[in-house]
Amino acid sequence: MDYILALDQGTTSSRAIVFDRQGQVAAVAQQEFRQIFPQPGWVEHDANEIWHTQYAVALAALKKRNLSAHHISGIGITNQRETTLLWDRKTGEPVANAIVWQDRRTAARCDALRKAGKAKMIQAKTGLVLDAYFSGTKLEWLLDNVPGVRARAERGELAFGTVDSWLIWKLTGGRLHVTDASNASRTLLFNIRELCWDAQLLSLFNIPASVLPEVVPSSGVVGETDVSLFGAPVRIAGIAGDQQAATFGQTCYQPGMAKNTYGTGCFMLMNTGTAAVPSQSKLLTTVAWVGSEKAKPQALKTHACYALEGSVFMAGATIQWLRDGLQIIKSAEEVEALASCVPDTQDVYLVPAFAGLGTPHWDGHARGTLLGMTRGTARPHIARAALESIALQAADVFGAMVQDSGIALKELRVDGGACRNNLLMQMQADFLGVPVVRPVVTETTALGAAYLAGLATGFWAGVDEVSSQWAMDRRFEPRMSPDARQAKMARWRQAVERSKHWAYD
Ligand code: G3P
Repeated sequence: MDYILALDQGTTSSRAIVFDRQGQVAAVAQQEFRQIFPQPGWVEHDANEIWHTQYAVALAALKKRNLSAHHISGIGITNQRETTLLWDRKTGEPVANAIVWQDRRTAARCDALRKAGKAKMIQAKTGLVLDAYFSGTKLEWLLDNVPGVRARAERGELAFGTVDSWLIWKLTGGRLHVTDASNASRTLLFNIRELCWDAQLLSLFNIPASVLPEVVPSSGVVGETDVSLFGAPVRIAGIAGDQQAATFGQTCYQPGMAKNTYGTGCFMLMNTGTAAVPSQSKLLTTVAWVGSEKAKPQALKTHACYALEGSVFMAGATIQWLRDGLQIIKSAEEVEALASCVPDTQDVYLVPAFAGLGTPHWDGHARGTLLGMTRGTARPHIARAALESIALQAADVFGAMVQDSGIALKELRVDGGACRNNLLMQMQADFLGVPVVRPVVTETTALGAAYLAGLATGFWAGVDEVSSQWAMDRRFEPRMSPDARQAKMARWRQAVERSKHWAYD
């Protein structure tokens, strides 16, 4: 058993990555799948398509190295978080499309709960800001709006899950209905201090407890795949939401270590150890991972490890919009060359609030805004403004993180697809005023899931072994003067204000 298979089910693509004992990528397969936009502000996925693409890439990755189930020590699962699925326990059929984390249909419900004074209690228990981003109001919406579903749920016929639960259900032929605490902590239904589903929250959102998955450790063997899938059973040994997994993959095991992942969105997490630190700056307090009783590595003991998180909804998705929406580039890779054609944006700003604004604004009614155009504005300026918007949003989150934690972060570890973009990383260092550090392996989300699984099966001996695998590729030093940085950030914040409170719903 020489490998670990990581399944990384992201917002826009399903990926499978085989890792060897050195934590190096041995094989990758990836498939994009459909984004469904039934109405402005709504985003859905077909749950069966999620499963079929994920299974197909798992087989494809194994095939690339001629591997079978016998070569795989364990499977680690990591996933787009918050996305909400509800399916029939008997048939395994979803009752509706999955409601994706970016979906804003429950923004008004969140406003009403806020007006009713519920936000404080919710934040105290869940660590979350009351926002349509999370699963709770999405699940409530499905129960209230899909005909017959509430009655079926109350009869115990339906199962709710985030994408991890759905994949494990499918991988085990419907034998396991589980999630881990990092995923559960994104539902608005989970008490992150007591590490259990919360009766008061279930009653507030009107959720029958019978739909909930069992919460299992992030690192631990929870079951085996159905024999029919890979020819022999393979242990499922790691589960974590993608951002928590990336934090694990970046080996941020000490309190105060932070990473930023540039995926569909952009998510900065700082390890706060065993303390669930409440935020003053509208960051989220979240479970990073929970080990199992038997876990040997200290970082994975039974206690939970917590993190502070800043969530930016649009990062890579902004580039995808340049490609698919505006159609000013043909592939995402083109954006760096196009943006480099001009030295600056000529004061053009793009605020990519296509799915509202996350940290630190939490405005579900904000919408995308392009400001400052003149007759001289051309494709390169817009491309550059789009890249800048990713780094500027992350810089805002970084500021909140430093303020909340009281820790002056000296550098930022980065990963995710868009961190290969050198121009973006230089912008990031400039806007942060601290160096940005890119590791050799930037598939840290999948790597984190692999580590969680491999530590549970004994493939790796402990966190010291996996920590020693982290290696730097490149360090980007800030080149902007503090005055220029301040002026840039101030102008950006003006632009952000213009995007707020726009949509009626
Ligand atoms: O919270 C949403 C996040 O998990 C999505 O991650 O990598 O698909 O952008 P990603």
